[in-house]
Amino acid sequence: MSNMSQQRSLRSTLSDGTLIASLIDRERREISPRVFSDPEVYQLEMERLFSRTWNIVGHASEIPNPGDFVTRTIGEDPVIVVRRRDGEIECLLNMCSHRGAMVVREEAGNANVLRCIYHGWIFNLDGSVRGMPWKDEMYPPGTDFERLGLTKARVEVYAGIIFANWDSSAPSLDDYLGEYKRYMDLIFDKLPGGMEVLGTPQRFIVDANWKTVSEQFGGDAYHAGQLHRDLGKLIPADPSNPADWHMYATKVSTDNGHSIICMDQTRIIQILTGCGDNLPSLNDRLEMLPPPGVPREMLSELKKHRTVEELEFMMSSPPGNGSIFPCGGVWNMYNPMAEGPPGPFLSFRTYLPAGPDKFEFCMWTLVAKGASEEYRRLVLRSTSFVQGAGGFVEGDDGATWPSQTLASKGYMARKTQSYKYWSMTGEHKPKGWPDAMGGHVHGGFSRDDPQWNWWQRYFERLEGKV
Ligand code: FES
Ligand SMILES: [Fe+2]
Repeated sequence: MSNMSQQRSLRSTLSDGTLIASLIDRERREISPRVFSDPEVYQLEMERLFSRTWNIVGHASEIPNPGDFVTRTIGEDPVIVVRRRDGEIECLLNMCSHRGAMVVREEAGNANVLRCIYHGWIFNLDGSVRGMPWKDEMYPPGTDFERLGLTKARVEVYAGIIFANWDSSAPSLDDYLGEYKRYMDLIFDKLPGGMEVLGTPQRFIVDANWKTVSEQFGGDAYHAGQLHRDLGKLIPADPSNPADWHMYATKVSTDNGHSIICMDQTRIIQILTGCGDNLPSLNDRLEMLPPPGVPREMLSELKKHRTVEELEFMMSSPPGNGSIFPCGGVWNMYNPMAEGPPGPFLSFRTYLPAGPDKFEFCMWTLVAKGASEEYRRLVLRSTSFVQGAGGFVEGDDGATWPSQTLASKGYMARKTQSYKYWSMTGEHKPKGWPDAMGGHVHGGFSRDDPQWNWWQRYFERLEGKV
């Protein structure tokens, strides 16, 4: 087995002789459409990305008590994410070590032990074998049950988000997230009491390759002003400048392929208030648009938890939407509403591969622990109006991701066309950008830098270089 996997990992061509490295043109900054639908590329992704990267599998607040579990996937592997009796979290392959049945069938629940329905093998919450029916009749004395536990992934939690990784030799989550952590802190770590999920995650299937959304979510501001132009009509923006609300965001990419778009919130406040250069005080701006997830009545806790510099950053260039490589995303912003002032929205999501031309969109919405019912309802209204299956943003994108996937299957498409990432800003920090907010900062007009960074990191792994 191990020799086979070693040979696979060294393979540098697809079965028709195409060099994997030829699917990216690093000089012209172009990508072959083939990667969006080829089953063989998809299998390589399972082996070279999803078995070796840190993947989002949930939020700590989904499983607060011992025995609480949820079932998720990493790549295409089903997993059980469960809280042990000692409070630690395990991520276990949801495949019985006896003959492969799924041990847990429910999406969520609480259990003392995990029991497979097929022949009744029982596992402890740490995945070890606890016992089985007719043990003495079935298995001779001395059978080594210790090595028959459920396959375990490494688990680490950052900002409440649970990540898992199958690779015992992969760098820590801390290293993997690197400079991205500072942006995550300002999105998710706003209060000493932390955030909690608002209901179960929203899940729906999209008929598109998982990369159509993963590569674009933290970088493609370009499409926002066109595909989402109706959103632009609702978001406070300068009507004399159609590029106002989306094309002047500052974008950041980090070394492991993560990215974030920091929106110009000062502009929004200027338009909302007509204040021009006389910006309201930081306190007044916080009252006007409390950072998403934080109800107005909890602002005093936020002010104690974050420094003035951080609060100033959160109110001027808040990290808005971004990608966590390979298939995660974050979103922290104010939504236009059907009526009334903009509504807060705080979320993370995954785009889970479900075949070369399908992914499962899974979106968690968060609010401050202890937030009022009224605030929770406001966040739900804001979320369902704009994001997810019924929201008009994903409704817009849902028209393009499947079409990209479908078109990429064609013979002429693969022979004559490419995805182009020609437009680069380079590194440019806007005036006053805090040193603490690291990564590769691309200020000015929004171009393709973070997406091109994503593709380079993707191909390093697909080619087996990382
Ligand atoms: S497959 Fe689970 S007990 Fe047999
Ligand atoms: Fe979009």
